[in-house]
Amino acid sequence: MNDNLHTLRCFGCGARISGPEARSDFRCAQCGDLFEVEYTGWGQRQGPDRPNPGALKWLWRERRCSSEALDQSGVWRFRELLPILDNFGNAVSLHEGNTPLYKLRNTARMLGIDQLFAKHQGMNPTGSFKDTGMTAALSVARERGFKWVACASTGNTSAAMAAYAARAGLRSLVLIPEGKIAWGKLSQAMDYGAVTCQLKTDFDGCVSVLTQIVKEAPIYLLNSVNPYRLEGQKTPAFEIAEAFDWTVPDHLIVPGGNLANSSALGKGFRELRELGLVARVPKISVIQAEGANPLVRAFSENNGEELRPVEAQTRATAIRIGNPASWRKAAKVVRDTGGWCLDVSEAEIAIAKAEIGAEGLGCEPASAVTLAGLKKLCAQGKVAPSESVVLLLTGHTLKDADYTINFHRGTLLTEAESLGREEGVGALKRDAVVVGATPHAVLETLKGFGG
Ligand code: F0G
Repeated sequence: MNDNLHTLRCFGCGARISGPEARSDFRCAQCGDLFEVEYTGWGQRQGPDRPNPGALKWLWRERRCSSEALDQSGVWRFRELLPILDNFGNAVSLHEGNTPLYKLRNTARMLGIDQLFAKHQGMNPTGSFKDTGMTAALSVARERGFKWVACASTGNTSAAMAAYAARAGLRSLVLIPEGKIAWGKLSQAMDYGAVTCQLKTDFDGCVSVLTQIVKEAPIYLLNSVNPYRLEGQKTPAFEIAEAFDWTVPDHLIVPGGNLANSSALGKGFRELRELGLVARVPKISVIQAEGANPLVRAFSENNGEELRPVEAQTRATAIRIGNPASWRKAAKVVRDTGGWCLDVSEAEIAIAKAEIGAEGLGCEPASAVTLAGLKKLCAQGKVAPSESVVLLLTGHTLKDADYTINFHRGTLLTEAESLGREEGVGALKRDAVVVGATPHAVLETLKGFGG
């Protein structure tokens, strides 16, 4: 099953096209919806041609000891389930994936649940989950002979794209909303050599400008409307299933911005079940920031059947998105798996982020919505104490150091935002103190901290 046997199937009208037939904006020519990669034949294969679950599990684990570059990637290690290239030699890899699954003991105790884990996608080469998708889609760009790639981004996609383009010897164009992305991410795009344009608009505005550009110039679009991105981003589902010895956790909790990641993970688990590698899938819940919650609104208004864009506002800049491209796919994942979609406030995000920091892990603000959302799900009795939960942490804590410093200095939240949560915030705040340069002065300071 190594052949490149994929087709693209429209998520809206079901039309099927071959990969190279896709339009430059990756929208269906019939209905305008997005495509999904489909592997024709997987379902029909019988006898020796049918993928053998036991053999695949063995092979994927063996590859972890291999010295081949492709095997050392946590994405291409699973290449039998993403046969999107004619030649795997075209894969552009930075050893992405194979990220840690940490147990969160203190947080689990606080919530009264037995098994709580964090799958830390911030431990990828450019510090976010975007690397797993970028290795897949940028490899397709290289195989198809593109010289330029481009994306609109809230920061992490641009960092990942710029790095992978540099490795592949391609040029890259980044469109970001001026003043609304974290410095760590902007610095990455510059350092990896992208042409970086800050536009006087928001993320949604950057997307519409770029959609016009790719219609006029031979530039390969690497936003998550590109269905190959999702093929890479589904592989953490395989890693999670493998880590649970091919059973799966009861719940997977994912932040929601442009809503590609939740869609991709849902696809990953669905394919594992279709191929007989797992018996069931986790409930996948999507958490948004209160000020950028179009999917939450759609669920409360019409069970996620129609989405009205909103003007997005949140300090978790990665998910400051009002008109998410993949909302239909994500809504289906939430419905099909029996998960939930809810939103959390700025104070809830800040507190959850500090709690993840206090576990010795840290993450960027957008990732912390997962823990803030889990607290609500527990309070509503939607997660039982005996159930296992995985939080998907999407970005590294150093991506947005300003946010963290402002929280600990007490300058992040307004009074209105922290109203009623002063104690929670106070218990987590750890400002750096200025002390005289003597042992005595430092030891005196320790007394204030119970030392
Ligand atoms: N977490 C982080 C750290 C992100 O960077 C993003 C999206 C998300 C969560 C949401 O994932 O969009 O698939 O629902 N960042 C994009 C970017 C939009 O341009 O970097 P999603």
